[in-house]
Amino acid sequence: MQQIDIARIATTRHTCKAFDVTKKIDPAKIDALRVVLQYAPSSVNSQPWHFVIAGSDEGRGKVAAATQGGYAYNEPKVRDASHVVVLCARTDIDEAHLAAILDQEDRDGRFVSAEAKAGQNNARSFYVNLHRNELKDVGIWIEKQVYLALGTLLQGAAALGIDACPMEGFDQARLDEVLGLKERGLTSIVLVALGYRSDADFNAKLPKSRLPAEHLFTVL
Ligand SMILES: Cc1cc2nc3c(=O)[nH]c(=O)nc-3n(C[C@H](O)[C@H](O)[C@H](O)COP(=O)(O)O)c2cc1C
Repeated sequence: MQQIDIARIATTRHTCKAFDVTKKIDPAKIDALRVVLQYAPSSVNSQPWHFVIAGSDEGRGKVAAATQGGYAYNEPKVRDASHVVVLCARTDIDEAHLAAILDQEDRDGRFVSAEAKAGQNNARSFYVNLHRNELKDVGIWIEKQVYLALGTLLQGAAALGIDACPMEGFDQARLDEVLGLKERGLTSIVLVALGYRSDADFNAKLPKSRLPAEHLFTVL
């Protein structure tokens, strides 16, 4: 199997601050990134997310409506990128969603017996109920899963040589309204603009900066 130099990818990827509006991502690579998102891991396979992919001027224009005012610094990235992914969270993990996951796992051949299926259902419900009823942080728990998808997408894009800009800097309420997300039981969490850098991408020319390893790791 071909070795992938993950350290090189980690140290050479960067947040793209300006995209070349003329450069579009090959559809096959977008398909690959869709697979990366579809197969992102989540706690108890809860998959409490949805991804809106804007690849047209019109689509990116809708997303750009949420980068007005204080978020204007992000507007050119949204408009000039090839694609923008809106990573959304479900506003709840309801019984219908749990049933859909369980049925899918069944169809995908995950259960050797009815007991195994019931056990998986119980385990998943336990965690959902723990976060909803005891810890009362189900919304935060869902968002954590969406951020896993974010990390997975950023690494996947970098591995394909695609530049990316993750963005929390946008008006979530406005975007939810523009995309009609609330009615679908969804809310926007974070954006990722994808494409290829332009000469104006100052961040591509700057060295990367991270705290030193001894600050970050404890080896037992
Ligand atoms: C969750 C998240 C939100 C971010 N929001 C923005 C943003 O709104 N605009 C922007 O230009 N960069 C944004 N960034 C980029 C970070 O500033 C950047 O990842 C960090 O400085 C590390 O630099 P690097 O990605 O180039 O390695 C965001 C990054 C993350 C992970």
